[in-house]
Amino acid sequence: MNSNTKAPLITAKAPSNIALVKYMGKSALDGNLPANGSLSMTLNSLCTLARVVESQSGIEWNPSLFHGREKVSGLSAVVPTLSEKGRERILRHAARSLDAAPSLLSTCGVRAKTVRGVQISAANTFPAASGIASSASSFAAVTWAVAAASAESFSEFHLAWQKTPALRRALAELSRKGSGSSCRSMEGAWVRWEGEKAFPVEGVTLPSMTDFVLLAGKEEKEVSSSEAHQRVFSSPLWSGRVERATSRLAQVESALQKADLQSLAAVVWEESWEMHSLFHTSQPPFTYWLPRSLEVLKAFSKRDAFGDLPPPVVTMDAGPNVHVLVPTSSADAWRARIESTFPGLEYLEDQCGSGADGWTGG
Ligand code: PMV
Repeated sequence: MNSNTKAPLITAKAPSNIALVKYMGKSALDGNLPANGSLSMTLNSLCTLARVVESQSGIEWNPSLFHGREKVSGLSAVVPTLSEKGRERILRHAARSLDAAPSLLSTCGVRAKTVRGVQISAANTFPAASGIASSASSFAAVTWAVAAASAESFSEFHLAWQKTPALRRALAELSRKGSGSSCRSMEGAWVRWEGEKAFPVEGVTLPSMTDFVLLAGKEEKEVSSSEAHQRVFSSPLWSGRVERATSRLAQVESALQKADLQSLAAVVWEESWEMHSLFHTSQPPFTYWLPRSLEVLKAFSKRDAFGDLPPPVVTMDAGPNVHVLVPTSSADAWRARIESTFPGLEYLEDQCGSGADGWTGG
């Protein structure tokens, strides 16, 4: 038996998140610091599972840590085919997390041990070509799994994760260094990120929400979000962007606290269009929209067309899909309406969730 087999196998689960106020444009400083604050809803079963086991031979990607099709809420988790660049980015972050974990854990009262290396793999429950960004969920899951592997006792780490906000915030901060928006996937259901800190919004009274992700296209995107973060500064619409985003952040937070769906829908629509207008007017300009995205947006721009249902909160990320967030209590009615309005259009469905978690074993 080699020493690897004695170390526990740790699996972390971290969901994707959908931003209502967008992180777009980074500050000049290192570490993925945003130009403006953002706010998102954490999802639940559209997620990444990251698996790690301690290893004596450095940090290695080992897809065979997932032997079968693991299921999360009925969805199969599949190991994606990563480009070499993608794999290197994950491994670099695993190294960063391994370095940072001992002092981070000790500061939060969790006993840490020195871990020289890990074998690591990750699997997503959303289809590879669905246009769902996997970086938020995968970096959050990897951060969680590596931190858990660095604890002297998994159960002590897990208890601290549940009971110690400082540990959750510290792991969000560490995760942000690998992928900005991943810091909003550690907790739920509504998370605000400003500067170095991401934390749950307090006093939310809005009932549970369901996200229908209308899949407008499956092509690989031509402009990465890292590239988009750079290019938006060249748009003439950048001027005043930080002030507008900051004001929307306050409006969104207040709408969540007052359960004011009407105002939430209006502000989020405006914010999504602003981000895409930045893309459309940058130098050189680019777009993520596909014909089907536009068809869906056009239907949702006619608000009275769905007047008998609660207002939908419609937004897009850096991709062609349209997210339609509705109260879970009206999800059945909305599902029927989406299917009749857009016949044949594929969609994914998920709910708001509580953030990352993990367990030992497969
Ligand atoms: O975390 P990144 O660098 O992949 O940026 C994500 C940017 C958006 O998804 C477009 C917006 C957001 O706030 O999530």
